[in-house]
Amino acid sequence: MKKGIIIIFAGLLSACSPKLAMPRQENIEKVVAVHPDYTLSDVKEGRTLYAQHCGSCHALKNPTAYTEEKWNTLVPIMSKKANKKAGKEIVTPQSSDKILKYLITMTTTATSSGK
Ligand code: HEC
Repeated sequence: MKKGIIIIFAGLLSACSPKLAMPRQENIEKVVAVHPDYTLSDVKEGRTLYAQHCGSCHALKNPTAYTEEKWNTLVPIMSKKANKKAGKEIVTPQSSDKILKYLITMTTTATSSGK
């Protein structure tokens, strides 16, 4: 029981530790050239959902570590995994879509200085 609490706590910590890049207006200005439907508010929400749902089994992966094509296939698979683990739909199709928007925005537009 005690061990379970420690594991949960460590999981929470690891979910917060990586400095996930915050999308900015300039990222959106670039990404809309390819994805006109992306908005800053959706992409920011996607970042929150990503941190919330995707760091419970493994550390959060850096958005720039995978290409757009890779994220396109991985996010639906991982969303299913998250829902299976929870025993219910915690990552809705809309949430999954916003997570994907965040990851694609960052991997296609992140600059080396992007904080
Ligand atoms: C239920 C546990 C679980 C959750 C929740 C989870 N993952 Fe994973 N993830 C795994 C496992 C297990 C692997 C390694 C084996 C594999 O690739 O299936 C993995 C691997 C990955 C990889 C590496 C794949 C590769 O080919 O290098 C990425 C990227 C990833 N996850 C992203 C995500 C994202 C995005 C989310 C949130 C939508 C997420 N994960 C949520 C279990 C999970």
